[in-house]
Amino acid sequence: MKNNKNDNYHSLSELYHENSKMRTIDYGFYKWVNQVSSDVTIREVICKPNYNFHGYPSVPLNQDILTDAEQHKKYDMFLQRKSRREFQDTPLSLAAISNILFAANGVNRQETFDDGTVWNMRTAPSPGGLFPIDIYCIVQNVEHVEPGIYSYSPVENCLYLISKQSREELNNNLCAGMRPMKASITNSAICIALVSNMARVKFKYKERGYRFALLETGHIAQNISLAVEIERAGAVCVGGFMDDSVNAMLNIDGLEHIAQYCILIGAV
Ligand SMILES: Cc1cc2nc3c(=O)[nH]c(=O)nc-3n(C[C@H](O)[C@H](O)[C@H](O)COP(=O)(O)O)c2cc1C
Repeated sequence: MKNNKNDNYHSLSELYHENSKMRTIDYGFYKWVNQVSSDVTIREVICKPNYNFHGYPSVPLNQDILTDAEQHKKYDMFLQRKSRREFQDTPLSLAAISNILFAANGVNRQETFDDGTVWNMRTAPSPGGLFPIDIYCIVQNVEHVEPGIYSYSPVENCLYLISKQSREELNNNLCAGMRPMKASITNSAICIALVSNMARVKFKYKERGYRFALLETGHIAQNISLAVEIERAGAVCVGGFMDDSVNAMLNIDGLEHIAQYCILIGAV
């Protein structure tokens, strides 16, 4: 398969990724689509399940989570979870961010394999235990942490500062990468970027590795969303970002290392 731009050979997943990138030119299209899809009649058609099983035998399920106080408390984070796009300009504590990162993909146990090797296992399931998702933290407003871009090390349980930048600079770069999210970005405390390391999955799973990377990204993002609720903060998951801008901000190539998903988190 040929890539016209530089004549290099690329795998199908690389070509797919390149072709599904969001670029500034797409803003006009999405603006139009948003207008169309906000029409009530159109939304009703779009959101309607395209098949149902009315008439089939059914098993009624209980509603204990909603009605039983103990169950309600136990499942509180699921009941609370929703996207939040308005944040207060107050810092989040380092304790809260530590917890959120641990929940995201921290080391929660060690396992000894048949060959005697000991592996650090994580809070999120991972294809083949290869852990292809790296977590970058764009820290804007977290107590006791200088603004900058950090890499989360689950094994050492620390944040490595990879680029020190002013809050203003981070804010501008984030806005360039996600223009429609400007209002949310301004007061957000941190943006977590989930970056897939493609070589780590593709050597074993080849093209299916691309799917697996996205699936693990989703697991981690959901862990983050729920941990944010436990911390009584707010988050919105952002898939609509300018790929090239976000990859450039993180200083990654967008081919071997790909920013797949961003989660803006802030005080609410
Ligand atoms: C894959 C994915 C991409 C998303 N991208 C964006 C985004 O770019 N901007 C945004 O404001 N919300 C984004 N969202 C959040 C959805 O808009 C939101 O989850 C949806 O409207 C349902 O609302 P809720 O999260 O409050 O339940 C995204 C959600 C998912 C799952």
